[in-house]
Amino acid sequence: MKCSIAPAKVLLFGEHFVVKGKPALGVAINKYARVCVKEGSRRVYSTQLGVLGESSQQRALFDAVFEQVERFTGRRVDLDVYVDSEIPIASGLGSSAAVAVACIHASLVLLGAEFTREDVRRLAHEAEKAVHYRPSGVDTTLATHGGLLYYKQGEFRLLSDLRLPGDLAIVVVDTGVKRSTGVIVKEVLERYERCERAAKHIYEAAGEIVELAIEAVKRGDSRLLGELMLVNHGLLWSMGASSRVCDEVVYALLELGALGAKISGAGRGGVVVGLFNKSAADQVVTKLASSGLNVFVAEPDYAGVRSIESTSTQC
Ligand code: PMV
Repeated sequence: MKCSIAPAKVLLFGEHFVVKGKPALGVAINKYARVCVKEGSRRVYSTQLGVLGESSQQRALFDAVFEQVERFTGRRVDLDVYVDSEIPIASGLGSSAAVAVACIHASLVLLGAEFTREDVRRLAHEAEKAVHYRPSGVDTTLATHGGLLYYKQGEFRLLSDLRLPGDLAIVVVDTGVKRSTGVIVKEVLERYERCERAAKHIYEAAGEIVELAIEAVKRGDSRLLGELMLVNHGLLWSMGASSRVCDEVVYALLELGALGAKISGAGRGGVVVGLFNKSAADQVVTKLASSGLNVFVAEPDYAGVRSIESTSTQC
């Protein structure tokens, strides 16, 4: 048996605006999808979802993964898959991409194939394309390579020498509201069309925010990063990507001392992220968790997909 883990991601800046050619900035985080594979008969078992039935929606991702691995290795792939993911589903954290990347990595290792990380990313992106509507590739890139990623119009730039300021903690709050990225993207674009003369300036501003944010990361300016997050949230709000529950979480985070907060990903539910001084973060998590929210401190993952030891208790 071979096991691999791949990280989740949060979008720090630029979601939605990226759809019309503006840049976005994402970071891989230390929440992982763990996938183990062994010779078998294409059974897929998930700790969270149980055995995935032949025609279930979630199962389609694994069929697409098997197909990609078969094409790449030129061999018939008969594996059993064990998934144990700590990444909430349909929340904007890239859970499906992390599972696909970890599964492809573990499968290629088990089959003894020669491959690069880039092969893993490409195969996972192809598998994602088969099951999701026009994925940008941000999630698969971050799950594969880790770290910070600048994305603009099909160009992926891994900011390998960049680190988030050491005094900074990213607090992630899962609103628990599942939503469809496709529906929100469509409605945001429709608002853009109706309000284009004004909206194009909003998009322009959002693009500048990403550039300013990268400069702030380079300078270690946590305060400015927080402020830019709030401006970004306001712009997303104006395009209809927020919701009452998301705004309430943003206010709750600010009241607890956040430097800034915003929706992350498609919005109208999913996750909200807040930036805090590291020293304050644990207390914030305790307070929010006591009010029933699923909340955690995310550390950046700079390593991406990797093999882990398999033990019988893991799967
Ligand atoms: O919520 P997620 O992780 O599916 O992110 C969606 C990001 C959007 O910019 C809204 C859409 C996209 O394809 O980039």
